[in-house]
Amino acid sequence: MAVLNRFFFIHKVFLFIFAPNPLTMKKISLFCFAVLLLSACTQQRAEANYDVIPQPKEVNLNADGHFLITATTKVYYEEGLEREAQFLSEYVNDILGYPLQTMAFDGQAQGIVLKQVPEDFDKAEAYEMEVTPKLVTIKGSDAAGVFYGVQTLRKSLPIAPEDTKLPAFLPCGTIRDWPEFAYRGMHLDPCRHFMDLDSVKIYIDMLALHNMNQFHFHLSEDQGWRIEIKKYPELTKVGAYRDGTVIGRNGRLYDSIRHGGFYTQEQLRDLVQYAAERHVNIIPEIDLPGHMQAALASYPWLGCTGGPYEVWKRWGVSDDVLCAGNEETMLFVEDVLNEVMDIFPSPYIHIGGDECPKVRWEQCPKCQAKIKELGIKADDRFSKEDYLQSYVMNRMAKVVEARGRRVIGWDEILEGNVSETAIIMSWRGTEGGIEAAKKGHDVIMTPASHLYFDYYQSEDPATEPSCVGGYLPVSRVYEFRPLPKELTPEQQKHIIGVQANIWTEYIKSFHHVQYMAMPRMDALSEIQWNNPDPESRDFDAFVERCRHMAQLYDLYDYYYAKQIFNPQVYTDTVAPNLATRKPIFLREEPNEKYASKGAVILNDGEMGRIAYTSGRWLGFWGQPLDAVIDLEEPAPMSHVRFRSLVNKGAWIYNPSHASVMVSDDGENFREVAQLDIPITTWMDNDGNFTYELEFEPVTARYVEVIVKDHMLPEDHDGYGYPAWIFVDEIEVF
Ligand code: ACM
Ligand code: ZN
Repeated sequence: MAVLNRFFFIHKVFLFIFAPNPLTMKKISLFCFAVLLLSACTQQRAEANYDVIPQPKEVNLNADGHFLITATTKVYYEEGLEREAQFLSEYVNDILGYPLQTMAFDGQAQGIVLKQVPEDFDKAEAYEMEVTPKLVTIKGSDAAGVFYGVQTLRKSLPIAPEDTKLPAFLPCGTIRDWPEFAYRGMHLDPCRHFMDLDSVKIYIDMLALHNMNQFHFHLSEDQGWRIEIKKYPELTKVGAYRDGTVIGRNGRLYDSIRHGGFYTQEQLRDLVQYAAERHVNIIPEIDLPGHMQAALASYPWLGCTGGPYEVWKRWGVSDDVLCAGNEETMLFVEDVLNEVMDIFPSPYIHIGGDECPKVRWEQCPKCQAKIKELGIKADDRFSKEDYLQSYVMNRMAKVVEARGRRVIGWDEILEGNVSETAIIMSWRGTEGGIEAAKKGHDVIMTPASHLYFDYYQSEDPATEPSCVGGYLPVSRVYEFRPLPKELTPEQQKHIIGVQANIWTEYIKSFHHVQYMAMPRMDALSEIQWNNPDPESRDFDAFVERCRHMAQLYDLYDYYYAKQIFNPQVYTDTVAPNLATRKPIFLREEPNEKYASKGAVILNDGEMGRIAYTSGRWLGFWGQPLDAVIDLEEPAPMSHVRFRSLVNKGAWIYNPSHASVMVSDDGENFREVAQLDIPITTWMDNDGNFTYELEFEPVTARYVEVIVKDHMLPEDHDGYGYPAWIFVDEIEVF
């Protein structure tokens, strides 16, 4: 149509200018036709590409034929789908440069039609998009299905250059698509650093763009209470603000900047509506009975000691928690949950349950009296206080269930006798989720190992905004298997969903939140929506599909990390030396989590970098590295060099001591060198450190290297435990 219009337009202009005789007219017509052909051949046609993220399950393209979207294309909607039609019009305006007119379907459509046909689908949130030259039909199992069809169309469109209007050709064919997991979530912590309402709305837009339907909104913390509760106004008067924040990581320096903020109930109701239009459910979390110091600062009678308490200025896990033995405290929590449920219609209410130290309860007369009253006994698995926490969680589960909702709790709630109906959020690995599914609980997988998006995403943190630590590249997210092999197919049905979490201790701005989220969210969305067979996952093809998403991020001014688009290949090798690739064995096995390929990692000539998860390092916890290298024949030597890693946030410290021994027969060793290494401090950088031991020249066949750990120091959250040591490439020369 548009092509022909253009022909007639060029034609008319020439006829008008030259007012020609019939012969010239014929020539002009031919000339115009040639101009048109030339322009059609030289101009790249702007075609939609259905290879979007998450990838649709079934795409069957016809051999040829297109539907053309132009500014005159109309969107027709059946009853209940007006908002979906408006979204489509807005997206086309964003991407192609013009809105589409939307109107109720009258049975006579030529254009794009949105309908719900539940009987054509056996899954919820499913859709089919059929493209013919005259008609695009997006038919959904429900309004959500139509919405995801609209998202796929949106993500398939070519992007118009700024300030231009671009017609788009949609290849004819049929797409059928549905989600693998009903629960597809992202979490956000606006407590450690407050995120304003407009930013949270953008976060919800980001979820919708990635076909996610659950927003886990973490609303209470030691460092800030973020939700207005009418019955307890001090929670936001006092609890929403802290008078300073720890600087750096040594726990001793604080700024004196007042930080905080909260959401009113009216704002939250508006947010619920905003999310619902985008088929996103908001799950509020009130984290209890731990992580409650901001509430304690607001109402000191909530705690075991009565305070005084302050809204916490540092990170970590506070010993001050809700007093489980105080009936008034329990009634307070019930009131809070009831107000929360008045605001959020969510079928799920998150009640936390993670990281609740029991030291106050052990000393508190009220808590101990409650333990007696309830007849709680310790057993060989759990303490009395663990069971007291179960009492709190189960009591609150009843309050939630009385209103027809279900509770979600972090996997610590398995420690004790958790209510059977609770949904377990498995964050300390997948083990909690496996145990819970075996017991018949529904489970949401969100293991820190693959889905904590507060970790670095490159091997070189110097190139990234500072964050809590760790290393979680997009490729690792893409490797995640939500359905553990340890579970039977029947038990696997309890894995209802997958989620990633963004904690904000070191994330002060919403731009940084976006940078941490994307493109890891792309990888997550493919797993949530498709859970592709691990054997057939193709990371390179995924990255290619991400490129168009990145263009959309640019269009919407979303910040995102770009490492996957410019991968750096690190080939850090050490010069060949006496030890290189010689037989090596370990007297003590590394920790099984960081055993990689075993001892050979230590002298294969390739060095580990910053990422302790790269497989280039061996990790030891609570035991030394003790390696013996057989040089295969006696050789003169005077140096041993090795490397170790420091990542204090991940409990990895430098070694305390290293020694070198040599032997002629592999049995009788004599020490030739030793080195004491002082413990690194918070004033020192993390990174990769090399140690060298020099000794009197000696000739020997066997070399033994022993590297010992430090204990974690007093100013570390893990004080009292051993530090990890990570060692790589040992050189002998
Ligand atoms: C958590 O990361 N404490 C759930
Ligand atoms: Zn108490």
